[in-house]
Amino acid sequence: MKILAIETSCDETGVALVEGQKTDSPAGEGFVFKQLGNAALNSQAKLHAEYGGVYPNLAKREHEKNLPIILEQALRNVADEKIDAIAVTQGPGLEPALWAGITFAENLAKEKNLPLIPTNHMEGHLISSLVQDGKMENVQLPVLGLLISGGHTEYVLMRNWFEYEVIGETQDDAVGEAFDKVARMLGLPYPGGPQISKLAEEARIKNVVPYMGLPRPMIHDKNLNVSFSGLKTAVLYMIRDAGGIHTLSSDQVSAIALEFENAVGDIFISKTRRALEESGAKTFVIGGGVAANKYLRERLVKFVEDEFPNVEMRLPELSITGDNAVMIAEAALARALSGIDDVAKEPVRAYSNRFSILPPK
Ligand code: KG4
Ligand code: ZN
Repeated sequence: MKILAIETSCDETGVALVEGQKTDSPAGEGFVFKQLGNAALNSQAKLHAEYGGVYPNLAKREHEKNLPIILEQALRNVADEKIDAIAVTQGPGLEPALWAGITFAENLAKEKNLPLIPTNHMEGHLISSLVQDGKMENVQLPVLGLLISGGHTEYVLMRNWFEYEVIGETQDDAVGEAFDKVARMLGLPYPGGPQISKLAEEARIKNVVPYMGLPRPMIHDKNLNVSFSGLKTAVLYMIRDAGGIHTLSSDQVSAIALEFENAVGDIFISKTRRALEESGAKTFVIGGGVAANKYLRERLVKFVEDEFPNVEMRLPELSITGDNAVMIAEAALARALSGIDDVAKEPVRAYSNRFSILPPK
């Protein structure tokens, strides 16, 4: 089965053509995926850098402009493939941005007389993060997913295939948003996650002493929720008390980046320990843009190996941690190949829904 997928939930315009097949995985569902069309992406990060974040109406305009070009690019080297369905991200995301993709996908589906499959962005992050070398096989349930991105931070439990329960989530900012805002305070450009990560890594190599003043909010609370706004504000005060950003040496800036990243790591280790204990998950997977973070990846892998040797940890390939259309195609394919009928019976509606894997009520 071949699905053409369209993703415009935030600031990336993505189109991908992916072929999927079911395999005889000994444990539960098994799939093999092959990217046929080059998944084309077009980052608008530079445009949004001026605003220090994503500006929804600008994103919408850019998607409308980019979609025909990206579609052409994605299908350029594809020889006359028969497409079976079109999948489109319906949410969660920025509504104006989502509508650009949905309208485009609806027109395309009508023109090509193909079914349209509305797809959840978070399910895309989760399912695609389980894929290894094009295969998603031998996945032991329950799966615990930690979805971390610029818009979302949640612990998701999948006890049965494609059934999700959000068992913990941020009470305020998403972790990627905190990375971006702290980066901005430190005078680093948007998106700030990779910049902080780079500075923190340099600081570790140089043995810079981290500022020991940042809190680890909610770390001792007996639940799986997290909070990043207090941490962000603590960085603001730390910079102010040190005399302002312009008085800081580059080592001091790196020390703050290091301490911030350490705090985020401590929070996720503590909450993941609780989540694995409480859920009895056999598989742990991380997904979303922040799942590209080298330090978090390495720390979580080591933690699971040391403390939960019977849990299998899966990491997404770096090419799909950020928003992309391959993940939307894979989620739609996995569901369709499992016999779930998601074909839209009515016009598709965009939803923001607090950036959760659960569809709106
Ligand atoms: O999944 P994504 O591309 O878009 C959303 O759905 O939000 O995630 C983007 C977020 C941004 O906040 C960006 O700063 C963060 O992911 N990010 C990182 C890293 N790479 C991207 N955060 C920390 N470390 C990284 N290496
Ligand atoms: Zn995302």
